[in-house]
Amino acid sequence: MNRLQVEFAGLKLKNPVMPAAGPPIKDGAAALAAARGGAGAIVTKTISTEAAQVPRQCMAEIKGGFLNTELWSELSPEHWLEYEYPKVKEAGLPVIVGLGYTADQIEKLAKKVAPFADALELSTHYLGDDPSPVAAAVRAAKEAVDLPVFVKLSPQIDIRLFATAAQEAGADGLVLINSLGPCLDIDIETGKSLMGSKTGYGWMSGPAVFPVALRAVYEAYKHVDIPILGVGGIRSGREAVKMIMAGASAVQVCTAAILEGPEVYGKIARQIEQYMEERGIESLAEIQGLAHKSQRQEDLQRWQPAINPELCTACGRCAQSCVYHAIKVGKYAVVDEERCVGCGLCITRCKFGAITPKFLD
Ligand SMILES: Cc1cc2nc3c(=O)[nH]c(=O)nc-3n(C[C@H](O)[C@H](O)[C@H](O)COP(=O)(O)O)c2cc1C
Repeated sequence: MNRLQVEFAGLKLKNPVMPAAGPPIKDGAAALAAARGGAGAIVTKTISTEAAQVPRQCMAEIKGGFLNTELWSELSPEHWLEYEYPKVKEAGLPVIVGLGYTADQIEKLAKKVAPFADALELSTHYLGDDPSPVAAAVRAAKEAVDLPVFVKLSPQIDIRLFATAAQEAGADGLVLINSLGPCLDIDIETGKSLMGSKTGYGWMSGPAVFPVALRAVYEAYKHVDIPILGVGGIRSGREAVKMIMAGASAVQVCTAAILEGPEVYGKIARQIEQYMEERGIESLAEIQGLAHKSQRQEDLQRWQPAINPELCTACGRCAQSCVYHAIKVGKYAVVDEERCVGCGLCITRCKFGAITPKFLD
């Protein structure tokens, strides 16, 4: 049995890892590369009624993350319909076609792309803080075509408000999150922004946004019943598993695919599978939403770190960052129980899994 198989909104995927709209899925050839790289489905780069005019520079790797000011596809819808979508279909995977943005634009595009699509993904990136244009875009898509419609939300909005508005308008799923911003980074040799947009601002993705995305998925899962695709900062099976535990049915990857290439989809899928095998987990349903069932009960319970001398290498990272001076390192680290307040930082600083919580009565 294939443990990685997932099914949501009528789509059947051999694994839950797929590209997120962006450069790694910018045309038909890129879709075929994503399929060879092990993706379980294809999501195509967002198109709108006009080709985008993307300013340059439009991408930069920054410390802990990634900035872009890429807008939507620079290819026209006519070009996609004639050349790119037919190639995307050759991949033989479920295809989620990315569209933007307003109800008028969606109405014009949805019917045309339908022959190539198993589902639509509506980007709402430029629709503002009020959920009504998002709801209108969903209704326009649902009236135009008989396909599952996913709504992709940006993180700088009220997730609960938008998620419930999308569901009420008839959305069949959510995609959380788009890139976060606006953000800024500066070249210290020239004093100029790294981004060529008019404002110099860009949108952040990659590892820095992972906790934002995880929380968005967790929050939406509490309030809607439709499936959620988690996206933002996923680069290994670890983040993918966390997304599924927060409630996601599947995950999307953009920045890691830009930086590492299309093999990243298969790598993440194999890492999820290995995690499952090691723990005897037969299907992803067993861990989906787990974070909602295992809320911490011990908030008010006192605890201290317990150090396993067999795993401790005496590297000193825990002691270096202990602001309470509660750890001394000799042959191995030792906790001063009088000084320790149980802040927990040392557990996350230890690279060897040598520190675990010990609960006190
Ligand atoms: C260069 C670049 C271009 C992107 N273009 C789009 C796009 O056209 N439509 C869209 O909905 N999201 C777009 N995104 C957002 C990604 O799909 C994704 O939601 C976000 O980057 C977070 O995921 P990540 O950390 O895996 O990149 C783009 C992201 C990047 C970095």
